[in-house]
Amino acid sequence: MSLRTLDDLGDVTGVRAFLRADLNVPMADGVVGDDSRIRATLPTIHELLERGASVVLASHLGRPKGKMREDLRLAPVGARLAGLLGREVVSVPEVAPAELPAASVVLLENLRFEPGEEANDVAFAGRLAELADIYVDDAFGAVHRAHASVSALPDLMLASGRPAVAGRLVQREVEVLSRLLSGAERPYVAILGGAKVSDKLAVIDALLDRVDALLVGGAMAFTLLAADGGAVGDSLVEPDRYDDVRAAMARAAASGVRIELPTDVVAAAEIDADAPVQTMSAREIPDGLKGLDIGPQTVAAFAEVIAGAKTVLWNGPMGVFELASFSAGTRGVAEAVGASNAFSVVGGGDSLAAIAQAGLEGSFDHLSTGGGASLEYLEGRALPGITILEG
Ligand code: 3PG
Ligand code: MG
Repeated sequence: MSLRTLDDLGDVTGVRAFLRADLNVPMADGVVGDDSRIRATLPTIHELLERGASVVLASHLGRPKGKMREDLRLAPVGARLAGLLGREVVSVPEVAPAELPAASVVLLENLRFEPGEEANDVAFAGRLAELADIYVDDAFGAVHRAHASVSALPDLMLASGRPAVAGRLVQREVEVLSRLLSGAERPYVAILGGAKVSDKLAVIDALLDRVDALLVGGAMAFTLLAADGGAVGDSLVEPDRYDDVRAAMARAAASGVRIELPTDVVAAAEIDADAPVQTMSAREIPDGLKGLDIGPQTVAAFAEVIAGAKTVLWNGPMGVFELASFSAGTRGVAEAVGASNAFSVVGGGDSLAAIAQAGLEGSFDHLSTGGGASLEYLEGRALPGITILEG
């Protein structure tokens, strides 16, 4: 199944393109934080404009649940986009205006102000369909959502004989991630971290069929350590997942997949920048202390596995990297992946933030703009926003 892309469009001179982007960027007091996602969609915007089309951009921001929220308006994002694009972007205060301003780049208001967006409502999609001649999806971070702008809208466009294609970002994400689903060069090493193992069980299941080694850090590792008989003190665990992770570990052992858990951790009584820290065995954490980062011995062991890899997938930080005392593990893994010759792919907002914090963005082959979307893709699931662009 191949993806239809901008290459499949004919002459688009004078055509109006509805461009679904993922401009869901971190905002603080009305100011855009990390603008990676805005920058990631610039090639598609530039290409459409160069080919003579005008662009009607749409995105969600946050989770306003079908109601207008002043702090989640898209105009500040439009202003940042204008700066990056080097041309005017007209932000309109409505999600589906009856009339569009005559401008080559228009940004609609936050799609999720309308309840029809998350409900995948056909009538709402119909209002959006009136705004354009062609549909382009560059919102990789949202392709796993069956929402109106991702699903019902391209459906309607196709049904009325109008093209619906992937933008360059979605195209690149799918090219890279599909390589990790089939045909990845071995050894293939996956590194998983983050707080909850429950979010990662499905991807672990899928990865066990493909990878040679799975390195587990972050708080999710404590559920595996505890299920395996370790004493993890007050570390975060999900006891209702012990059976699931035991099954996964048994499956890994049976199929020869190496699972590496932390052997040492940096522990403290509280998640606090000033809390006194101790490095100790990951399986002998006393009550009153919780593991908040992987320790140096674990970093060295992980780094050795990473050094021998030809393909590396990384999702989720190794500890509470936002605090300096618990950031060395994530940084160490980032450096090891960056230094390896492996084809390296990173996904998930926290991992990306950690990489940016360490100034290591340039050392990876692909930084995915989708967290949940990249995980669901790697689970091998059919994603509504991709399926509709195939064929
Ligand atoms: C994200 O940031 O995960 C994407 O923009 C999708 O947002 P959502 O998780 O709120 O659907
Ligand atoms: Mg999400």
